[in-house]
Amino acid sequence: MIVLPQIPHEVRPVCPHFGSCGGCQHQDISYHEELRNKESGLVSLLTQKVSISLDAFSPIVPSPQIYHYRNRLDLKLVKRRDGRVDIGFSPERKAPVLEIEACLIAMEKISRFIPRLRLEASGKIPKDYRMANLTVRCGDGGDVRWGGIGRRSLRLAEADHFYTDILGHRIYYSLDTFFQANLSILPELGRIIRALPVWDKEAVFFDLYGGVGLFGILVHDLVARVVNIEENVHAVRIAERNVRDNGLNNVEVLPGRIEDVLPKMLNNAKSADNIVMIDPPRAGLSDKAIRLLNSLERARHLLYLSCNPQSLAENLVGLSQGHWATKFVQPLDFFPRTRHVETLVLLQRN
Ligand SMILES: C[S@@+](CC[C@H](N)C(=O)[O-])C[C@H]1O[C@@H](n2cnc3c(N)ncnc32)[C@H](O)[C@@H]1O
Repeated sequence: MIVLPQIPHEVRPVCPHFGSCGGCQHQDISYHEELRNKESGLVSLLTQKVSISLDAFSPIVPSPQIYHYRNRLDLKLVKRRDGRVDIGFSPERKAPVLEIEACLIAMEKISRFIPRLRLEASGKIPKDYRMANLTVRCGDGGDVRWGGIGRRSLRLAEADHFYTDILGHRIYYSLDTFFQANLSILPELGRIIRALPVWDKEAVFFDLYGGVGLFGILVHDLVARVVNIEENVHAVRIAERNVRDNGLNNVEVLPGRIEDVLPKMLNNAKSADNIVMIDPPRAGLSDKAIRLLNSLERARHLLYLSCNPQSLAENLVGLSQGHWATKFVQPLDFFPRTRHVETLVLLQRN
């Protein structure tokens, strides 16, 4: 029998800017193929760097929505010499802005807002501005809002915060705080985290790089206490609001850098079965954070949520030197049609 080579299932890109805006890389293959590629890429990257059994890898979780899922767009505004204003993507820093009328991976209400953004931003740009970075965002309900012109323009009043309703909790976020970009897949991530075999009613859950408090709030009923540590003061304020509005009395929010706050907190905590979650920015963990996590005595489980497989792989090498063994790897397709992939890893102290 002749075995034919597998021919990728070609798909016609749906967006006229595919290939030039720098956002999507996979509109020209089927979603099935995209998922398989992301899964196999992650397995090969991680197993090359650290010792992980293939049984530890769970199949990638697809996104319920493969278009219209992003709740945030970052756009560039450039004022030309003749005073005309361009708003769009800037894939290459020096090249002209690529003007867009819609972004097909953004939530539809964001795309519908772009003409209004053009009007409002053009009217607001001061005479001496040549360029501005604009952030446009929305949530489950309410309006689309934007900022980026003027020092406090990303700060929103409480009444204007965005929110998402997830597993029985309403979580607020703002223009100047991080929040997960794909709201459609977030409940599934919450269910997966809650189903991990780590929870203990006596334990403290340390939600490090905790942002506006999402993960600690989602698991607060599975542990004795939650401690959220976050350096962005605006995120800290909204995390406090989220704890208050959800009526929780076992969640504490601590401002500051992990590297400074964690040493005092963790070794004072009573149970040796404490659970730590880390969800750092794309660059991953600092050397100091890795050293701290490797020196923890009162933690048995470490959950690592990463949006960057490269920094994850490097950090897993560092953590394996501190007796953290990788037990479970769960890729999730938070960013369909793009090269990016989110990964949840469960590590256990040897
Ligand atoms: C990827 S976000 C995760 C936020 C949150 N876990 C969520 O899912 O919404 C990373 C967060 O870590 C914060 N951060 C970055 N470096 C930090 C550090 N050294 N110490 C504490 N927080 C930090 C950022 O401000 C940001 O809110």
